[in-house]
Amino acid sequence: METKFIDLTNIKGQQRIVEEKIEMAANIIRTGGLLAIPTETVYGLGANALDPEAVRRIFEAKGRPQDNPLIIHVPSAQWLPRFCEDVPPLAYTLARNFWPGPLTMILKRKSIVPDVTTAGLDSVGVRCPAHAVTQAIIRYAGVPIAAPSANTSGRPSCTTAEDVMEDMSGKIEGIVDGGPCTVGVESTIVDLTVMPPRLLRPGGLPLEDLQRVLGEIDVDKAVTAPLEEGEQPKAPGMKYRHYAPKAPVTVFTGNPRRTAQTMVQRMTAGSGVICFDEFESLFQGHETHLLGPVNDKEVQAQRVFDVLRTFDESSVTEILAQCPDNRGLGLAIGNRLKKAAGFHVVEVEEESIVLGLTGGTGAGKTSALKAIEDLGGLALDCDAVYYELLNTDAGLRAAIAEAFGAEVFNSNGTLNRKALGELVFGDSDRLDQLNDIVFRFLRPELERRIAAFQGKLCALDAVNLFESGIDKLCDCTVAVTSPIEMRVRRIMERDGIDEKYARLRVSAQQQDDYYRDKCDRELSNTVDTPKAFRETAKEFFDRLIGQIKEDKANGRR
Ligand code: TXA
Ligand code: MG
Repeated sequence: METKFIDLTNIKGQQRIVEEKIEMAANIIRTGGLLAIPTETVYGLGANALDPEAVRRIFEAKGRPQDNPLIIHVPSAQWLPRFCEDVPPLAYTLARNFWPGPLTMILKRKSIVPDVTTAGLDSVGVRCPAHAVTQAIIRYAGVPIAAPSANTSGRPSCTTAEDVMEDMSGKIEGIVDGGPCTVGVESTIVDLTVMPPRLLRPGGLPLEDLQRVLGEIDVDKAVTAPLEEGEQPKAPGMKYRHYAPKAPVTVFTGNPRRTAQTMVQRMTAGSGVICFDEFESLFQGHETHLLGPVNDKEVQAQRVFDVLRTFDESSVTEILAQCPDNRGLGLAIGNRLKKAAGFHVVEVEEESIVLGLTGGTGAGKTSALKAIEDLGGLALDCDAVYYELLNTDAGLRAAIAEAFGAEVFNSNGTLNRKALGELVFGDSDRLDQLNDIVFRFLRPELERRIAAFQGKLCALDAVNLFESGIDKLCDCTVAVTSPIEMRVRRIMERDGIDEKYARLRVSAQQQDDYYRDKCDRELSNTVDTPKAFRETAKEFFDRLIGQIKEDKANGRR
């Protein structure tokens, strides 16, 4: 069969030709033919929904299982009572809010809709597509168009007329080119025959938008998880392995930076990659297709099928794919990727958030660390870890002995701090030398402890956070600051020393401005008691962690 190619990409400026072409397309529908039509979601493979013979041919051309019902396309909600029984007011509310657009409603059918269209179900899916060309064709034809996605069954859906040619050329009467689809994933399907309404397939209309109008809405299990043996989804099509390129796909969910790292570790020579634009450079030497920027789910939706299709022409042995989070269009994009992967999903664990705390004596770092522990975090005092290592780490001890002589150790093996102090204090070169050694051993030990910690939050407390390079281990650095008078009073009380000595100690250290300049954030202590500051700090860290998580989720860190 010769497939007519009807170009309607240029709607403006050619009104007469357009009308002729629309008529030609509508005639294919009216005479029982198959016509691929553009919609805002994906291309559809259309036929007169009321003509059983024509509808049967759709199943043939696609190789679609007979038990998978088709949705019918109408130009407005006014057509609903012609094909649906007992249309609930809710359907009109949804239509008012979201039609024309990427929403399919499952409603009770009237018997005018043939069995073959609904695969024998007593319900029918109805959608009003937001595409001027297809709207015009339906009105011209005067009948609803039954249309599944225009791909061969099992392949990724078609988002351009070229995709449709690839799958359907020679099998159908016509293909209307209406330009690339602007949404890129199929419509959201909501079942209104049950209460509360049920989401059967996430799609181009975000679940959150539906929830705003519907309130409560159930989500069918098939949306997020593979079905078990013998289990039936409410939308029959959700049970088929779908959208699948030839090579097996594995999907990685979680923080984008982490999923990218994990994919790099898992890759083998033949792996192909689907990733967010930001991470392209990590996968050099591999066939890589870009899903779009981390923060632009509209672009990701437009590209997801194209990217999956492209891999069909490639010889990769497997495909590793980054997956967006479930918010907004992410639910639909992730669902398509996971279906392509047969729900072979690797959930990448979130790493702990690491905070670096610094500041002068008496500012309140100890209370701040307690607040970290109150939040379930791990608080590491870098000085304490250093002293521990001095007793336990043979490498550190050997390095110190080599640089400063064996005499800085007592005969019982403990460090003679006084002897070492005399060598380094007042000699800044030697002090630097000692610090270099200490930090060289301290940093990996801190990294080990952070990695071993199962919780979500770690804080490192170090006076010389930046000089030691420990700041490099941190997601965010925090200066704990406090007015000098308050600090003096606090350390007098805490250490039982007189005012003069307390002032001397405070002035011997860096001042608040120094820490303020170097750190990402400032936690200022102007309250009277450690207990009150611990509360202030808890709130501060809680907020900060929320911000860091959001930044990470959005790929900003
Ligand atoms: O965006 C879209 O919805 C595209 C464009 C062309 O409009 N169409 C589309 O059709 O995606 P299709 O056939 O590929 O997917 C329709 C899904 C199938 O999973 C099918 O099982 C389900 O809708 N479905 C159709 N009628 C149903 C019904 N009465 N009850 C439950 N599920 C139904
Ligand atoms: Mg489909």
